[in-house]
Amino acid sequence: MKRIALGAAAVAAIAALALTGCSSGGRGGDAAPSGSAAAGFAADAAIGVALPDKTSENWVLAGDLFKSGLEKAGFKADVQYAPASNTVAEQQNQISAMITNGAKVIVIGAKDGKQLGTQLQQAADAGVKIIAYDRLIENTPNVDYYVAFDNFKVGELQGQALLDGLAARSGHGAPWNIELFSGSPDDANSAVFFNGAMKVLQPKIDDGTLKVVSGQTAIAQTATQGWKAENAQSRMDSLLTANYTSATIDGVLSPNDTLARAIITSVKQAGKDISTFTVTGQDSEVESVKSIMAGEQYSTINKDTTLLVEQTIKMIGQLQKGETVDVNDTEQYKNGVKVVPAYLLKPVIVTKDNAAEAYANNANLLAIVKAAQ
Ligand code: BGC
Repeated sequence: MKRIALGAAAVAAIAALALTGCSSGGRGGDAAPSGSAAAGFAADAAIGVALPDKTSENWVLAGDLFKSGLEKAGFKADVQYAPASNTVAEQQNQISAMITNGAKVIVIGAKDGKQLGTQLQQAADAGVKIIAYDRLIENTPNVDYYVAFDNFKVGELQGQALLDGLAARSGHGAPWNIELFSGSPDDANSAVFFNGAMKVLQPKIDDGTLKVVSGQTAIAQTATQGWKAENAQSRMDSLLTANYTSATIDGVLSPNDTLARAIITSVKQAGKDISTFTVTGQDSEVESVKSIMAGEQYSTINKDTTLLVEQTIKMIGQLQKGETVDVNDTEQYKNGVKVVPAYLLKPVIVTKDNAAEAYANNANLLAIVKAAQ
């Protein structure tokens, strides 16, 4: 009985496939080349948004903007965060549930971009399109698009800001003593930020302008598990104790604002002078913008979440109508299996000097800048 039932199902499936082939005018989703459109779907379809745990303000803001923006565009929005514990497994479950519940597109800010292969195969089998948001998803052919700020450029800007800050704040010329921090190893962005920064910093380490006193320059040595502030603070505490009881620490490469503030706390607690110390950041978090205006943190990066969410919703709209999806990079983001067609936005470096201009369109941050001026 079982054999016969299976056989019948297979025959039905083949017939359905043949029918689709005849009637779809050659627009089958699987056959579509990178960057081109899949067949459209209902204008009020469900769209899933799976975001990681809330390791920085931008993730919190993105969730709110996706919910309101998708609903305004006429879609049903299913926005989920992975909880802080058991995050990877929970995010996998959330994505599977979105597929089962009939989402047509799922936007994913991955907790661990290397561990979604099974779920994305399930999505591809169900004809669900996947957009990797901010973080690339790796080792799977089933990621259709990537939308992010140019992460390598973020790293380059951070590296240059560190050099500029050292020259402006340290009160002395080269050589400068520095330490390096990178983000969480399970986030594909971490290596891209670090490599971008090292493109600028490595030649200066090689020619003696910069001295990494601890000798910890390999990315694995600089990693901050989970992007957690407490991990950055304890590594900074150890670095200071081991290397800087008599030597001066002039600066630190920090990949984001949360870690920058943890590093500042550590440096202050060690009784070091913060006014001659340079630390970089990223995300334009409220507390870091205040810190920059107060002359503590040196720089951050403005990656306007509003623009990134708007661009993602625009791409979803194009998929819905069966139009060609906007991409502006088809070379850089190799995920181990394919080059993922990407739409990259431009990050902006922010210091005290250009903060008013950089946040001209952000009433909240602009008010902080104006209040401090
Ligand atoms: C994002 C950063 C953020 C970090 C920690 C990265 O993937 O690009 O903006 O600071 O995750 O949440």
